[in-house]
Formats: sequence, structure tokens, C-alpha cells
Amino acid sequence: MRILFLGDVVGRSGRDALVARLPGLRESLAADLVVVNGENASHGFGLAPEMARAFLAAGADVITLGNHAWDRKEIIPYLETERRVIRPLNFPPGTPGHGTVMVEVAGGRRALVVNVMGRLFMDPLDDPFRTVQAVLQANPLGRGAHAIIVDIHAEATSEKQAFAHSFDGMASLIVGTHTHVPTADHRLLPGGTAFQTDAGMCGDYDSVIGMQKGGAALRFWRKMPGEKLGPAEGEATLCGVFVETDDATGLARRVRAIRTGGGLEPAEAAAD
Ligand SMILES: [Fe+2]
Ligand SMILES: [Fe+2]
Repeated sequence: MRILFLGDVVGRSGRDALVARLPGLRESLAADLVVVNGENASHGFGLAPEMARAFLAAGADVITLGNHAWDRKEIIPYLETERRVIRPLNFPPGTPGHGTVMVEVAGGRRALVVNVMGRLFMDPLDDPFRTVQAVLQANPLGRGAHAIIVDIHAEATSEKQAFAHSFDGMASLIVGTHTHVPTADHRLLPGGTAFQTDAGMCGDYDSVIGMQKGGAALRFWRKMPGEKLGPAEGEATLCGVFVETDDATGLARRVRAIRTGGGLEPAEAAAD
């Protein structure tokens, strides 16, 4: 299975770039499955249903979220009707929405997508390790699903790496989101799981993690609350990771970084 994962879409710049370029990217990669993190699509905070619809129409199969899942309240009823949009699995029982989704891709193959949030330097949620372990044990890779993708939305690189090593061989791809900066460590772990500590954002990098750089910098200079920050409005770089898996085992065969457009040095996977 050919899988494209794109990190946090930030603001209008990220949304416009995604909607404009995802159809071509999906085609050039011959991707079977596209997963996009949409937690910052709405002015940096949350995801409105019409934005989710636009991402799905542009070629996303699944949209994941994160700590900004609830910033646009309209998403709450939408999550009950649109199963392809998921929020972190480890919110307490009774939270609206779902943390996993099984989707069918070309050839009748099945892919399980899981979204979970870390706890280090973030709001305390249920244990992401034990929560995801239960899901992966219930869905053995290659049997329950042809591919399994886990978006670990977390601040600390240590937590994301510990998480990935814990489940090496049990998922096709484990990829971090939330820091909005792509790490250069995309690789195959010894057990056959592809991993990248953070996918980076789909947004304008001439910014402070996607927000306007002047106002964001002032907060550090003055140590007082500044004006409300808005997303930077320059051209976005789409950032993420491309993975090809073996349908028989669900394990990854190769992994490539994806960075296209905007201010970052490009990296693109060949379609072969
Ligand atoms: Fe984010
Ligand atoms: Fe986040």
C-alpha cells in the first residue's frame, strides 16, 4: 500500500496549499491512502466541518486531530456523522467522536488509522501506550488490517520515540505531529515499522510554528500577553512522509520525506 501522511495544516495558507496541491501529489505518488492532520486548519485553532469536507474532496481519506480538536465547536456533531475525521483516542470515555477508523482503499484492502495524544508537556489524558496497545493487539497487522497508521500527536520527541519503539512491528507507520517542524529521522525501525518523530506542518514556515513571526517573537521579548496571533499568510510547504508497505505483512518497505512548495528545501518521493 502506498501511504501519504501530511502533518498539521495551519490556517488559510495551509488549507489553500493542501486543496490545490493534494490531488496532484496523490496522483504523482500513486497513493492508495492519504491521511492529513487538520487540527490547526481554522486560523490555527481547530477544524471547521466545511474545511474537513474540502480536504476529503481534495483526496484525503482520513483526517486526524490533536489538542486543538475542540477549538471549533461545530466539529462535535460533525464527528458523529463523518467517521473519516478522528480525534485522539485517549480522551476520557464519553468524549464525542472516535479515535480510530478502518477505511477501505483500492483493491478491497483495509487500513486502520489511529490518532492518539502524548502526555509530556501536554494536557493529561489516558495512557497513550496502554490505549494503543489494546487497539493494536485487537487488530494484528496484516490480518485485521493490511496497513496500520498511528498519528502520535505529542510535544516531546522522547515520548514519540519511546512510543514508536514500543510498537515496532505492530504498525506500518508511526508518525508524530504537533511540533510543526519536520524531523530528519524518517526511517524503518528494526521490526519493520516506518517512523518519523514529527511530520512537520502544512503551512508557511516564514513564521513561528505557522503563526505570524513578529507577534510571536514579541511574546518572548516582552514576557507579557500579546495580541491574538494569526497564522502566517505566505506560501505553505506541504510536509509529511510517504511509505510503501507490503500488503501481506503490513510492514513498511520504504519511507521518504515529503516537503513541497513554500520556503523549505524540497524533498519528494519518486512514484516508482
Ligand atoms: Fe498542530
Ligand atoms: Fe497540536
